[in-house]
Amino acid sequence: MLNKMFARKTITPYGEVAPEGELKRALGAFDLTALGIGAIIGTGIFVLAGIGAQKAGPGIMLSFIVAGIACLCAALCYAELAAMIPAAGSAYTYVYATMGEFIAWMIGWNLILEYLVASSAVASGWSGYFNNLIELSHIAIPHALLSNPFSGGIMNLPAFVIALLITLLLTVGVQESARVTSAIVILKIIVLLIFIVVAAPAVVPANWHPFLPFGFQGVMSGAAIIFFAYIGFDAVATTAEEAKNPQRDLPIGILASLAICTVFYIIVAAILTGMVPFAQLNVPDPLAHALVLVNKAAWAKLVSFGAVFGLTSVLVVMMMGMPRIWFAMSRDGLMPAVFSKVHPRFRTPAVSTIVSGVIVAFLAGLLPIDVIAEMTNIGTLSAFIAVSIGVWMLRRRSPDLPRVFKAPALPLVATVAVLVCGYMALSLANMTKILFVVWVAIGAVIYFTYSVRHSKLHDGDGTAEGMPSSALPPTGG
Ligand code: ALA
Repeated sequence: MLNKMFARKTITPYGEVAPEGELKRALGAFDLTALGIGAIIGTGIFVLAGIGAQKAGPGIMLSFIVAGIACLCAALCYAELAAMIPAAGSAYTYVYATMGEFIAWMIGWNLILEYLVASSAVASGWSGYFNNLIELSHIAIPHALLSNPFSGGIMNLPAFVIALLITLLLTVGVQESARVTSAIVILKIIVLLIFIVVAAPAVVPANWHPFLPFGFQGVMSGAAIIFFAYIGFDAVATTAEEAKNPQRDLPIGILASLAICTVFYIIVAAILTGMVPFAQLNVPDPLAHALVLVNKAAWAKLVSFGAVFGLTSVLVVMMMGMPRIWFAMSRDGLMPAVFSKVHPRFRTPAVSTIVSGVIVAFLAGLLPIDVIAEMTNIGTLSAFIAVSIGVWMLRRRSPDLPRVFKAPALPLVATVAVLVCGYMALSLANMTKILFVVWVAIGAVIYFTYSVRHSKLHDGDGTAEGMPSSALPPTGG
């Protein structure tokens, strides 16, 4: 049993993926960067920045820097592995090749949690902004159809419907989805630029004093929350088998999208806390609300409009990454085979897209946003930690493997990622940690009762040891 649990997977060489299992290679560097920005900028900056400011005060700027540094370090590790191991499945696939099957299963299981709850939380946030917009058009949705049963309603209907619509879009094709996302990303960046230009003159430096009302711990608590704002760049890595030139374009896509978003976040956080006293930002729409408070209500409407489209693009990428992890796990035999079927016409993982999309729709429609949003962070942090350890282990174990992209300053970069992500995970609420342990326990039960018996690695379809250099792409390839 121990041998099976720690068996490592050989990576499928470039160009040798079985034809019937091959996804369509349609995405270039620009598409991937747009995809990353599409996933990253969203609820975190449009909704959670205000809540984070309640923990950190104007020091929320530092929270964005701390979380940004941790994510940048994790992203460098991701980029090295994504370029070496360009297979759908992201962290799950990387860990399978480095730490063995059981840990890979647990990471995949946690990624499923991350994508399901993050998508649900974003769909709920989308619903709030959407409702604001249609209220401006004097259309009223009954309260019962806007709230989940835990908040006295029947269902959050807009959240439910948007999740199903995006599921349909993703089932039809990745190229079409990437085009829609690119257009929305440009709009989202324009809206943030407008916010910066319009709001900057309203900054009163006195609002930045005291800068750290809750001290260092406040900055870290703020970071643990707004960490959500950075989630998404790993979704780029999950499209490795659909990238035209994954060795070159994946690192570009991951790092460029993260760098662009980090700069935006720090500037927006500085302006937001400079415009109004931070205590006034504890609202669902802090950017729009702050504009209203400084008598720029017309601009506030525009920002709300941008938020609706911005959150839509986050949903597209989140919901696109999720079935691809199921796809990879199913192809390895760890989940039922039906999840790795590629639709003959659309060339997308249609079954896993539809099943995961329907689950997201129900979670978003029926559960409170706050509980599911916290669960997102802990699932993601665990994956970041594992990937950062994995990249270092692979360097030690196989130093001579060709690496098209090398994370700089290892082991420092991996160590910073592990320590800061670990600290942020510990800063989350106790209930979140308990629910996470329950989720992990369920995952372990499924592994030992189903996955270990069905794993293709133990069938002779895979190789249980090591990772021969011939199985990896040539340098510069
Ligand atoms: N980073 C994404 C967001 O903020 C998940 O919505």
